[in-house]
Amino acid sequence: MALDIVIMAAGKGTRMKSARPKVLHRLAGRSLLQHVLQTASTLGADRIIVITGHGAEEVEASAGTSGAVFVRQMPQLGTGHAVQQAAPMLHDQGTTLILNGDVPLVAPATARHLIDDCAGERLALLTIELPDATGYGRVIRDAEGDEVLGIVEHKDATPEQRAIREVYTGMMAAPNAALKRWLSQLTNDNVQGEYYLTDVVAMAEAEGVHVVATRAANETEVLGVNSPAQLADLERRYQRGLADALMEQGVRIADPARFDVRGELACAPDVDIDVNCVFEGRVEIGEGAHIGPHCYIRNAVIAPHAVIHPFTHMDGEALGVKIGRGALVGPFARLRPGADLGEEVHIGNFVEVKNSTLGKGAKANHLAYLGDATVGERVNYGAGSITANYDGANKHRTVIGPEVHVGSNCVLVAPLTLGEGATIGAGSTINKDAPPGQLTVARARQMSITGWKRPVKQKK
Ligand code: UD1
Ligand code: CA
Repeated sequence: MALDIVIMAAGKGTRMKSARPKVLHRLAGRSLLQHVLQTASTLGADRIIVITGHGAEEVEASAGTSGAVFVRQMPQLGTGHAVQQAAPMLHDQGTTLILNGDVPLVAPATARHLIDDCAGERLALLTIELPDATGYGRVIRDAEGDEVLGIVEHKDATPEQRAIREVYTGMMAAPNAALKRWLSQLTNDNVQGEYYLTDVVAMAEAEGVHVVATRAANETEVLGVNSPAQLADLERRYQRGLADALMEQGVRIADPARFDVRGELACAPDVDIDVNCVFEGRVEIGEGAHIGPHCYIRNAVIAPHAVIHPFTHMDGEALGVKIGRGALVGPFARLRPGADLGEEVHIGNFVEVKNSTLGKGAKANHLAYLGDATVGERVNYGAGSITANYDGANKHRTVIGPEVHVGSNCVLVAPLTLGEGATIGAGSTINKDAPPGQLTVARARQMSITGWKRPVKQKK
């Protein structure tokens, strides 16, 4: 049976007080609309139609490769009017699922439930009981409470109706043929002068079409975003859900209220994550690894038993960052794309590593830069040393053999190879290969001048 999904995303979101269209505000690193599109994409729909209006161009450009099609609603005359715009694109038979672009966390299982309840013949509504139902459409039932008779919008409701706690969440699944007919019969004869989608409920009841109201599994999945405060609240709920799932797997999160994943975080058991860490893109953390407080980690794979000290910044971008087993990183380390640290590597404070491979046990403990370098096992790279990898036009590689000691404050002008076991004297600027096993020094010799006098100020 055909399945169409309509996502309403034309509203202005006045209360966000933002130039950005509401559905493009971000939750966990993705726009609200991307969350809904992601859920929609799991349902096997024949067609996903997004209704745009305010900021339509921006919203449409953001959806990229989602496969959704767009229909513009100009001006915006209500939710019923929004779905009317999609009516010509809906299949004649089958089911239409209606979602909201600003309700990002609806569970795929709940959406599936609505589709199954509808099955191309019934009208399925997603409802929830709220302690404070202000602003929502109330679900009107018959005296026995079995049959749903209609939905009354808050502004149109009588005091008795306003006392009802069961509200419509904004999501429904409707049989296509009937939906098209009902949409064509909507009027705007109400307090707000809008075409209400919710009026189709009474039409279904009048025609004898069965109306099924499914209660949502939890409040979080039906909450919409209308203000910055609601966005922040939903963000915390979402993060709490991710934290709970990880803790369930044996990950120790110091404070789930200070934990943020904006992408995918996969953790083995026995991982410790201290407060205020942000994970972006795809991050994997191996068993027994420890992530200290205040770390930013994006697109990285961290092997078991690695220790990431506080304030470490890792951004793998497209190339990724790799941290070997038992490596120690930070505090205040910066790992950039292509940083590939072997087992037991130590990277200390204010050390930057980019596009470089470090062999087992190599150390760069203080204030250093390694860019476009291949560093052998057990190398000791001194404080203040850098690879001068860029000549202003091209990047060049530095190859540092195993067991090399680079003294403090050296400049290694690439392309360059330091042979196995070489020692580079502190303060050297090296622009020719250094032979293995020898001490290479390139700096002015120290001398002392006897009888030298400091200048004295001349008297006038
Ligand atoms: C709607 C429901 C109400 C329900 C509530 C749940 C109607 C008439 N009322 O009310 O019963 O309790 O959602 O949150 O449907 N939109 C458009 N074009 C429009 C108007 C709205 O695309 O012309 C979109 C909005 O961008 C939003 C969604 O539809 O994503 C809901 O619109 P909103 O104005 O928030 O509806 P409510 O009045 O809150
Ligand atoms: Ca709303």
